[in-house]
Amino acid sequence: MDPRTTSFLLSLQLVIFFNSPFAASETLNVVNFGAKPDAKTDSSKAFQAAWARACTSCTSASIYVPNGRFYLRHATFNGPCRSDAINIHIDGTLVAPSDFHVNANSPNWIIFHLVNGVSIFGGTLDGQGAGLWACKRSAKTCPLGATSLEFTDSKNILISGLTSLNSQIFHIVVNECHNVKMEGLKVTASGNSPNTDGIHVGLSSHVTILNSDISTGDDCISIGPGTSNLWIENVACGPGHGISIGSLGKALKEDGVQNVTVKSCRFTNTQNGVRIKSWGRPSSGFARNIRFQHLKMTNVKNPIIIDQNYCPYNKDCPGQASGIKVSDVTYQDIRGTAATRFAMTFDCSPKFPCVGIRLEDVKLSYKNGAAKALCTHVRGIVTGC
Ligand SMILES: *[C@@H]1O[C@H](CO)[C@@H](O)[C@H](O)[C@H]1NC(C)=O
Repeated sequence: MDPRTTSFLLSLQLVIFFNSPFAASETLNVVNFGAKPDAKTDSSKAFQAAWARACTSCTSASIYVPNGRFYLRHATFNGPCRSDAINIHIDGTLVAPSDFHVNANSPNWIIFHLVNGVSIFGGTLDGQGAGLWACKRSAKTCPLGATSLEFTDSKNILISGLTSLNSQIFHIVVNECHNVKMEGLKVTASGNSPNTDGIHVGLSSHVTILNSDISTGDDCISIGPGTSNLWIENVACGPGHGISIGSLGKALKEDGVQNVTVKSCRFTNTQNGVRIKSWGRPSSGFARNIRFQHLKMTNVKNPIIIDQNYCPYNKDCPGQASGIKVSDVTYQDIRGTAATRFAMTFDCSPKFPCVGIRLEDVKLSYKNGAAKALCTHVRGIVTGC
């Protein structure tokens, strides 16, 4: 070929390239992929088609969900992607099936798997969990339920300004992830909804949860085995069960939890404030370097609790010494009111007593009097007890 023809073809290719949607960041409106904001047409395929396009983009890509209610039966967003910057802007609401049989065999409603650099801005997830809660409360045999939003095996994730309503079970799960930031979240489910944890973090490192408001029927934030370098700041919890490390020690071989900071959080009418809980059975796990700082408790049943004989329904309790080693836990500037006389409980493992428990400036009252502490198998309390 004549070199001039080659160069002409090359520049033609470049022109096509720069005009193609893959050249620069493009905005993919889910409506253009067939999504319908009518609350009843299943838009899962349309969302997944927009995702597939964003995922193969060689630069950054934006997915846009306009106002309206988009029914998604079940949506999986898989990586790995070519793009490592996918921004999802949501103005509307994503609605789950109200019939819990629809996703009865799936542990998830919306799940991202093996992704890198995904950010979600705004939006509302409506998990429509009330039907399943009623089933569970009636003691019938019911499915476990689907987590509303999960990131698994992923890194460099941002979830900002998202509202999550009435999940069937957990609202948001971060599992096997690295570097996840969640901020300005609003999570709401009724105080008597079973297992509706706000945010669950497990097997993950460098997770940050900031400036959020979480009211649920279960843990506000639960922290599972294998979590390290977790930072929680300015979160309001209640109603619900408070912030929990654990339950730990369910398995014999288990990764530990370390370097967790819970700072400037408020707990209102919750069952617990800050809790570390483990089953009473052997385990290789641990919880260490934990800091609880500047916390405000209002009418909280157990503002401070370490429970190493955890057994929620007192049914089939293992009844052994917990193998979980709890060490270096600092409680600093914790104030407010307890709803029971025992504002502090340290029920540690007889085999591995808690060590390095520090209490500084803990001022909790019960009916205008000083609250009490229960301590078993604890070493290294600086003040209190
Ligand atoms: C503890 O975690 C924080 C982030 O939450 C991180 O900045 C800090 O470096 C970690 N400390 C250690 C000793 O790893």
